[in-house]
Amino acid sequence: MGFIGSNFIRYAMRTRPAWTIVNLDKLTYAGNPANLADLQSGDGGGRYRFVLGDIQDVALVTHILDDGIDVVVNFAAESHVDRSILDSTPFLQTNVLGTQALLDASRGRPLGRFVQVSTDEVYGPAPAGVDFAEEAPLRPTSPYAASKAAADLLCLSSHKTYGTPVVIGRSTNNYGPYQYPEKFIPLVITQALENESIPIYGDGRQIRDWLYVEDHCEVVCRLVEAGQPGEIYNIAAGTGVPNYDVADQILKLVGRPVSLLRFVTDRPAHDRRYALDDAKIRATMGHSPAWTLEMGLEATVRWYVDHPQWWRPIKSGEFRGFYETWYSRQ
Ligand code: DAU
Repeated sequence: MGFIGSNFIRYAMRTRPAWTIVNLDKLTYAGNPANLADLQSGDGGGRYRFVLGDIQDVALVTHILDDGIDVVVNFAAESHVDRSILDSTPFLQTNVLGTQALLDASRGRPLGRFVQVSTDEVYGPAPAGVDFAEEAPLRPTSPYAASKAAADLLCLSSHKTYGTPVVIGRSTNNYGPYQYPEKFIPLVITQALENESIPIYGDGRQIRDWLYVEDHCEVVCRLVEAGQPGEIYNIAAGTGVPNYDVADQILKLVGRPVSLLRFVTDRPAHDRRYALDDAKIRATMGHSPAWTLEMGLEATVRWYVDHPQWWRPIKSGEFRGFYETWYSRQ
């Protein structure tokens, strides 16, 4: 139960009362059962069911789909760029082979839609003044981004070859409750709360377009309901801000000094800027984000302040080894 998937399930259970959801999850390091501790199998009058398993297990996926599933939404992914630089194998396994296995199990079925949750990283860095539209070439720069681009191409080829009703959503950086503290925003918040130094890569002027996770969840719901098979939809927030400024805003909210910020060795091939043109989703789905960055950061900081029991065990557990390996490299 990763970050975006668990937020999506909670959001869809609340806003789409006619839906029944089966959650297939392998529970890797970032797939924490505590992300959906408030929702148990059988909850919502039987509208929610959890199955422990791997999307690469075609027999298991086939068995689940046989149970009357009409829409597949693929949130399963290894998602941290830095980890993909240390070891790309799990990225290729889950993101590429896993997506292909889901597509194989879905082939020839009367599915309504197969929604692939993708990312703006497939386009690579956007030059100043350019917002990439869906037709922009794919120029991924990290093993993670390359694996997501490969998955998108497999989805599109499955649509063309077998008629699988694939719909792809490519979103900008998400943030919000339940995000694993390896990612920038929860890392800044939790380091600040612990009065620990906060690593800023390079000069900290890299730009990301921060999308509050609930806005992303609403778009995925709309893609499930009305996405056009074979189409790609960019999902943006329009909040392009340099990393340093985001960290600065968070420090103000948490009430900690900027002296906690520490400039460290940059990520190799660090994409300088991401920016998407989301005119298509606005025009076809009538979507525009409800959360400003200020609102989203405030809600996110409040959530981490209120839930130390969720993130403290992660930071003193699995995360620690990765942190020490990654941030001690030169
Ligand atoms: O753009 C969408 C993508 O956003 C998703 O597809 C990825 O799964 C997700 O990990 C995220 O990728 P980023 O590399 O942009 O996110 P991350 O939170 O790792 O970093 C955000 C920015 O902050 C990026 O410019 C790198 C910088 N950064 C990150 C970390 C972890 C730092 O300066 N220091 C850090 O310690």
